[in-house]
Amino acid sequence: MEAIALLQDKRIVLGVCGSIAAYKAVDLASKLTQAGARVDVVLTAAAQRFVSPLTFQAVSGRPVYSDLWSAGSPGALPSHIAHIGLAEAADLMAVAPATANTLAKLAHGFADDLLSVIAMAIDCPLLIAPAMDGKMYENPAVRDNCERLRQRGADLIEPEAGRFASGLSGIGRLPETDSMLGHIRRVMGRDGELAGHKLVVTAGGTRESIDPVRFITNRSTGKQGYAIAQAAVDAGADVVLISAAAGLPAPVGATLVAVDSAESMRQAVLANVADSSALVMAAAVADYRPRTVSEQKIKKSDDNLNLPLTRTADILMAVKAQRAQTGYPMIAVGFAAESENLVENASDKLQSKGLDLLIANDITAADAGFAVDTNRVVALDMDGGLHQIDLTSKAAIGAYVIERIGGLLQ
Ligand code: CTP
Repeated sequence: MEAIALLQDKRIVLGVCGSIAAYKAVDLASKLTQAGARVDVVLTAAAQRFVSPLTFQAVSGRPVYSDLWSAGSPGALPSHIAHIGLAEAADLMAVAPATANTLAKLAHGFADDLLSVIAMAIDCPLLIAPAMDGKMYENPAVRDNCERLRQRGADLIEPEAGRFASGLSGIGRLPETDSMLGHIRRVMGRDGELAGHKLVVTAGGTRESIDPVRFITNRSTGKQGYAIAQAAVDAGADVVLISAAAGLPAPVGATLVAVDSAESMRQAVLANVADSSALVMAAAVADYRPRTVSEQKIKKSDDNLNLPLTRTADILMAVKAQRAQTGYPMIAVGFAAESENLVENASDKLQSKGLDLLIANDITAADAGFAVDTNRVVALDMDGGLHQIDLTSKAAIGAYVIERIGGLLQ
């Protein structure tokens, strides 16, 4: 798992309660640690019946706390008031899984074990992920406690639907690690540099229908656009991700608008940029579409098939026109996919499309551009600035783009 800049050296108190889902908290502690966070795990007595402190200690590489009282013994805090130290140092406290019992304690101010004492003493965001059998989660007492905690500023994660260990089905499952990590990023980033800014990001290759079965598309998978959207969430932006990509999970906290053709993307972009701070057009938009879409499946007949194509509208050109009228989006960022004369072609696009920043990819390299997790780009800005970024992760390029937008917005 790659390091996550937002989580670097951040102190996260992970409170784990006695739910069958406690085993999932091991993976969460592990992934958070790999991402660069310092994870202090606090177990309730019931949690230790499901997973041993040693397991958490092994994945976090840090002491695990469970006992409020017995200073000096394993699982105890280094001193009698160290729980306050743990609470004060925390950048985030996540309670995952949170049982009905712990929810009740936190909602009503009971502080009779280490987890509930720390939750009371923190001065950082509190993220709570309830997990229990569906009937329990539906119970009015549990609902009330969740609502009470929400009103008091805690961030409650809706559990997922599915099958429980009891064999019953319903809502009450702890979300998988990736989703939990996404929630942690959303909460940790919410006061970031782009808080209060709406960012529109497009991603993926559009699909232009030929007939009910077939379409024309391109090699874009959406990975770079999704990485930009995640970096924008990390920076606290309100993110609208207009995506033609299939099968990628949207960053938690981003609003996903699914589109398919260039035309549907154009409409979604124009509607969404109207009140936005920035647009990042990372999508690979088709330049041509079939002139007509056959209502019936096209049958094979001759050896050759001629498929007349016609130009699609250029979305960035339409944005440029709208921006000239309204002033929005305040910043426009484009991408350029080039197989030759990278800088010359890219700088033409920067000018003609009226962009503030253009990220140019050489799509001929195997380790950059489409479908891979790495990229190598040149960033050009309207002041003639040219910045080369050597091979790195798409996440790092996403963070770079967001940093540049932050600078442009200032
Ligand atoms: N773009 C757009 N609308 C289109 C085609 C592209 O808004 N119909 C955007 C892309 O999202 C990208 C930028 O324009 O941000 C450049 O896309 P690219 O495919 O590199 O260039 P084109 O403008 O399509 O020019 P060409 O294909 O001739 O290189």
